[in-house]
Amino acid sequence: MKISVIGAGNVGSLSAMRIAGEGLGDVLLIDVVKGLACGKALDLEDARPLLRYNYNIKGSDDIRLLEGSDIIVVTAGLARKPGMSREELLAKNAQILKSVSLNIKELASEAIVVIVTNPLDIMTLYALKVTGFSPKRVFGMGVSLDSARFANLIAHDLGVMCTDVEAQVIGAHGEAMMPLPSFAKVKGVALDEFMDEEKIKSLVSRTVGRGAEIVANLGTGSAFFAPSAAIASIVKAIAKDEKRVIGLCSYLNGEYSIKDTCIGVPCRLGKDGIEKIIELELSGEERDKLRKSAETVAQAAAQLPV
Ligand code: NAI
Ligand code: 2OP
Repeated sequence: MKISVIGAGNVGSLSAMRIAGEGLGDVLLIDVVKGLACGKALDLEDARPLLRYNYNIKGSDDIRLLEGSDIIVVTAGLARKPGMSREELLAKNAQILKSVSLNIKELASEAIVVIVTNPLDIMTLYALKVTGFSPKRVFGMGVSLDSARFANLIAHDLGVMCTDVEAQVIGAHGEAMMPLPSFAKVKGVALDEFMDEEKIKSLVSRTVGRGAEIVANLGTGSAFFAPSAAIASIVKAIAKDEKRVIGLCSYLNGEYSIKDTCIGVPCRLGKDGIEKIIELELSGEERDKLRKSAETVAQAAAQLPV
């Protein structure tokens, strides 16, 4: 299997490392900056004798090497810089996504494409429109990271193992994300058996602010360790046909009464991409919030040139 990662920055290079290290396929790292992906791939290759693992990784600034990729992860783009508005970031990253998507369409028309670049939900819908691929094969990583953050914060607060916590976040990957406390469980026991409403609210709000909390601490750039772990687990579910249920920014065509736009919901993921969208039983308020977020994504993507 050929797995290509476009963008050899923090998220892209760590994702390439995890994907190669897990033996999921041959890895190609691509970046527009001359030498950057090549240098990182050489460095990752040198680690093989130390790790005693013979993975195959290459890096290049030549996007044409994408040809024949089975899975493509798109992390190319800018992170928001001080003084830059969201609109400017959106315009710049949309330009990058458009050119990357056209290359994918031309060179790897059978690939499954995982979008990571922010603003995630808009970029996913945009990539879907530009490639014209089936929505089963173009989706975004966002809410699985947010769910991991929610689970981590719950585990921390209760002093339990994080693997004993199940937590679900749906919706937009941003301020409007929807951590769902009613779906959170500790070894099958509902969260409200362990903590009061006020505590749950504070964990929900920390989850929503977690990306910003990390940015504020880092001073420059945004999170990359957990995002790359979220990407590797998506790639693994596809490469190993795991049929995992995982939150993905997915195209909806009537599910949750939402049509023709992308938003984060749980999906079953296997070798052909999204096999099923799972509809949770949401409250009326939750359904409204999800629909509004999805509409905002559609409106923003409609402004971008296809
Ligand atoms: P970074 O700045 O470290 O890396 C981005 C890389 O993309 C740079 O090396 C840049 O040269 C490259 N690039 C730009 N245009 C390109 C093009 N046309 N072709 C190939 N490469 C190109 O940024 P980082 O931290 O790796 O983040 C990447 C993106 O992922 C950002 O948009 C960030 O907001 C987003 N992100 C999304 C997450 C999610 O949950 N969906 C989580 C973390 C980051
Ligand atoms: C995050 O949530 C920046 O989307 C990235 O950390």
